[in-house]
Amino acid sequence: MNSTPAFSVVTGASGGIGLEIARNLAAQRRPLVLVARSADKLESLAAELRQRHGIRVEVIAIDLSASRAADQVAAEIVRRGTVVDTLVNNAGFGLFGKHVDTQLHDEQQMIDVNITALTRLTKLLLPAMVERGRGRLLNVASTAAFQPGPYMAVYYATKAYVLSYSEALAEELRGTGVTVTVLCPGPTTSGFQDKADMHDSALVKGKKLPSAKEVADYAVKAKDIDAQTRYEHLAWMCNKAIDFVTAGEADKAMRWLCFIQGVLWTHSTFTIEEMRDHNRP
Ligand SMILES: NC(=O)c1ccc[n+]([C@@H]2O[C@H](COP(=O)([O-])OP(=O)(O)OC[C@H]3O[C@@H](n4cnc5c(N)ncnc54)[C@H](OP(=O)(O)O)[C@@H]3O)[C@@H](O)[C@H]2O)c1
Repeated sequence: MNSTPAFSVVTGASGGIGLEIARNLAAQRRPLVLVARSADKLESLAAELRQRHGIRVEVIAIDLSASRAADQVAAEIVRRGTVVDTLVNNAGFGLFGKHVDTQLHDEQQMIDVNITALTRLTKLLLPAMVERGRGRLLNVASTAAFQPGPYMAVYYATKAYVLSYSEALAEELRGTGVTVTVLCPGPTTSGFQDKADMHDSALVKGKKLPSAKEVADYAVKAKDIDAQTRYEHLAWMCNKAIDFVTAGEADKAMRWLCFIQGVLWTHSTFTIEEMRDHNRP
């Protein structure tokens, strides 16, 4: 029997939600591979977690927007003989501004990190989990995944990709022992707003946002995409709309209702089982 402890790979672990997910997993004594660009931040987190929990923590400092960066991460994991049973695809960033004004280079990098690296890492690490009949994929999308987002057009589209990809994989992997969770946080306190240059956006300006730790703890706790979770989210959104109605803020209430309608529409056109049967090879 193989007694090598299985590792959790967390991308974007140098700050924000990813750092808190790493802390949460470490508290459960799960060995970790931390991935991001900031080697110094990763090393100092690794030292903290090794010291506090007595676990193995490895670091791979890499720019995930670079061509084939995900392949290098996967190759390094194989070279070190690290067995992985959890992949947290959290690294990502946004960009605020009119599409005609933003820089193509920045948006290409966003697609490379938010979509390409996430997909390639999944593609490369998933087969071994399926083979062992045990594993977990946790992809970080956003509430942005549910509707188009003017002034953050590419970011919203990348997150729609993450949600769609994750839900389809969840269905394909049913019964394999590998679960898929897709986390869709709303605005959260982290380095995200600085990086996206969006402190003036109405989405965050003057708002009290949840902490990265609150969101991370919720993410680790959620097991898979199931109807119950979806209904909990819808109930939360409905309550939000009702809050605005009772506060006399009709335009905000209307926006939330449109949002809920968008979510319901996304999930009611075809059920995932109908699509699976339609697309089955
Ligand atoms: N905060 C929000 O309001 C919010 C809402 C919904 C969804 N999300 C999603 O949550 C995830 C985490 O974001 P966050 O809020 O925690 O933001 P954050 O504090 O800025 O953290 C982003 C993480 O991603 C890493 N990263 C960014 N670009 C990278 C690259 N090219 N290569 C490797 N790593 C890279 C960063 O590390 P380095 O800079 O060291 O590379 C950092 O560890 C993202 O996918 C984001 O889209 C955030």
